[in-house]
Amino acid sequence: AKIVVLISGNGSNLQALIDDIAEQKIAAQIVAVISNKADAFGLERAAQANIPRHVISHKDYSSREEYDAQLHSTIAGFSPDLVVLAGFMRILTPWFVEQFTGKMLNIHPSLLPKYKGLDTHQRAIDAMDEEHGASVHFVTPELDGGPVVLQSKVPVFADETASQLASKVQEQERQMYPLVVRWFCQKRLLMLNNKAYLDGNEI
Ligand code: GRF
Repeated sequence: AKIVVLISGNGSNLQALIDDIAEQKIAAQIVAVISNKADAFGLERAAQANIPRHVISHKDYSSREEYDAQLHSTIAGFSPDLVVLAGFMRILTPWFVEQFTGKMLNIHPSLLPKYKGLDTHQRAIDAMDEEHGASVHFVTPELDGGPVVLQSKVPVFADETASQLASKVQEQERQMYPLVVRWFCQKRLLMLNNKAYLDGNEI
């Protein structure tokens, strides 16, 4: 399978995919990494792995529609089977999302449907939640609202800071995201009518 990965930052989820592909745990090839930020560390990770890199800066576009049109045409040029959002910190237009229906995954650092959007770790702490975690989901036009494929939980300890909690969650993310991508590449995972299925069973 051909995968395009979109990033904005550190790229630890990208690295987990690169590693599992190198170890042949996932039968796939990352054909491009695209970042909206030129200084994203994930671009260095892509370079190390000899993956073609593209920076498409939102600052060069005057509207979200124009940006997403460029992003779409760059991605479409690679004809990927799957688009993986890995810390890509931009809201995508419904039009863009619809171009990749059933072919785009995201990882979100909360136990969806809790805490869509930003600052999820602090919000879990403020709510005094006993558990927190991450979710991998298919992307639909509703922000962080597509069908969930897999969740991983971590306990929230008293006096834990948001950044401590974030690193615990990110450790889980590095395990779970490659697993879901593997399922997708094995054609075991699909989205139909806004529902996710694994091995034919609704998740
Ligand atoms: C992750 O916590 C992910 O859930 C969120 O952004 C972070 C990206 O981390 N969407 P990285 O760039 O993959 O290291």
